Amino acid sequence: MNKHIIVIGASRGIGAALVKRYAKNPQHQVYAFARNTARMDILFDEPNVHCFPLDLTKNIGEQLAKVMYELPMIDVLIENAGFLVNKPFSTISHEEFTTSYQVNVIGVMESIQCLLPKLNPEGSHIVNISSMGGFQGSMKFAGLTAYSTSKAALCSFTELFAEEFKDTNIKMNCLCLGAVQTEMLEQAFPGYKAPLTPDQMAIFIEDFSLTAHHYLNGKIIPVSLSNP
Ligand SMILES: NC(=O)c1ccc[n+]([C@@H]2O[C@H](COP(=O)([O-])OP(=O)(O)OC[C@H]3O[C@@H](n4cnc5c(N)ncnc54)[C@H](OP(=O)(O)O)[C@@H]3O)[C@@H](O)[C@H]2O)c1
Repeated sequence: MNKHIIVIGASRGIGAALVKRYAKNPQHQVYAFARNTARMDILFDEPNVHCFPLDLTKNIGEQLAKVMYELPMIDVLIENAGFLVNKPFSTISHEEFTTSYQVNVIGVMESIQCLLPKLNPEGSHIVNISSMGGFQGSMKFAGLTAYSTSKAALCSFTELFAEEFKDTNIKMNCLCLGAVQTEMLEQAFPGYKAPLTPDQMAIFIEDFSLTAHHYLNGKIIPVSLSNP
């Protein structure tokens, strides 16, 4: 089962762990995107990983147009990049609001728009990586207004895209992750110990991305051991 897989937000944390997992299967070809290509070049020495620069806050169409000819038909697209600011609501700046929405929502939608011609029409799966904070009815955390509202918008986008593309074989689902021990978590909540490592979460996402679109479309799935 050889798959062509894109991971956006692949230079560290969950995205990097995911690229490593996919790359273990030499039949897969993995296309890793992030701003920090130097870091990806050091992290990924596997011959089936290909690294490309992408900044979701800049002109996404122009950046992707430059690499489109290097991409084959894509079976799996993981929209994993994320930006988190943890600050009291009254102190969040305009720039922090706009960067949160640009990276977490608009960047996801625009990169998918650009990549649509490359998504395998015979069957492909887009997985959006959202957060429990953006899942309706979940426990909320003070300081995460910009982040969690943008992740909620990503959940909503998933339902809307799935409706618009329901008569195609391009499926989209959204995973709302609980805490994972990454640099993002450590920066936002210093000292907090998450129950999962990036690799443990990557095992779940890898399996989900390769199989779940045969059963699910437009679904928003909490990936958390705690309730609500
Ligand atoms: N860790 C958790 O507890 C947790 C919980 C719930 C949801 N999540 C979600 O899971 C995803 C991965 O989280 P993580 O903890 O692994 O985060 P992370 O360690 O901060 O990694 C984030 C990734 O996103 C990329 N990225 C950030 N800004 C970007 C931009 N402007 N353009 C392109 N890429 C950009 C980063 O690469 P560059 O800096 O090289 O661009 C990096 O590869 C995120 O969407 C996050 O919101 C995480």
